[in-house]
Amino acid sequence: MPDIVLEGVRMEFPGQGATGPAIALAEMDLAIHDREFVCLLGPSGCGKSTALNLIAGFLTASDGSVRVGGQEVAGPGPDRGVVFQDANIFPWLSVAKNVAFGPSLSRRRDRNAIRRQVDEMLDRVGLSQFANHLPLELSGGMRQRVGLARVLVNDPPTLLMDEPFGALDAQTRIIMQELLLELWERDRKTVLFVTHDIDEALLLGDRIIVMTARPGRIKSSFDVRLPRPRRYEITSTPEFVALRRRLFEELRHEAARADELEAVH
Ligand SMILES: Nc1ncnc2c1ncn2[C@@H]1O[C@H](COP(=O)(O)OP(=O)(O)O)[C@@H](O)[C@H]1O
Ligand SMILES: [Mg+2]
Repeated sequence: MPDIVLEGVRMEFPGQGATGPAIALAEMDLAIHDREFVCLLGPSGCGKSTALNLIAGFLTASDGSVRVGGQEVAGPGPDRGVVFQDANIFPWLSVAKNVAFGPSLSRRRDRNAIRRQVDEMLDRVGLSQFANHLPLELSGGMRQRVGLARVLVNDPPTLLMDEPFGALDAQTRIIMQELLLELWERDRKTVLFVTHDIDEALLLGDRIIVMTARPGRIKSSFDVRLPRPRRYEITSTPEFVALRRRLFEELRHEAARADELEAVH
């Protein structure tokens, strides 16, 4: 059974002043299977974040149906972990306390169990030595590790990620992509990963869904049959290079249109 289903989803934002309503998504259909890693790829402004926020339950569609695990989405829920570009961690809590935040909301857990769970999570993301540090004392990459750990520690069956590594420098981004792959290999959650970066989509995804420029629709879907487990080295193989070229051709026109749309406004 598909885990995430969008049917005929339309999203209209009310216009401000003289501008009419902005149609972010028009008739979007999407089905993501259980434990599939899907990358949603498209130019800036095409509605990727809007789609993710609808699935997360932060937004409500103007029309159509958004279902997760067979249920119509009525708001955010613990079954969907969301990771944004800014790690949305609490600056006043230590790394360990940030990660413990979700589990400590659950009434059933005892403190020792939570501590063990947090320790294990920090170990998995390579932050054991920074458990007592405050977020301000960390690098951008480390903060994003905390953000990831904070979400993964709750073990949500579905992970929604919106350009989580977009603000990191190129090398740190690769290290974080490899970390995410390593974490995913172990639990194989359903992942919807939003990006405008072709290489990132190819390195991570089982499938890449390409969106058109605004108003966003699904343009095409590519299966990525590169072997797993994957590491950065795969990005220089002939298979990867050929896929990169195809995806660029697919996106070229949409990127140019997105650019024009931006110029008009
Ligand atoms: N809250 C909002 N109010 C008005 N327009 C919005 C709002 N959020 C997004 N939009 C518009 O919807 C379109 C899609 O935005 P978004 O989903 O953020 O695109 P992406 O994530 O692909 O860059 C853009 O044209 C954007 O300006
Ligand atoms: Mg976005």
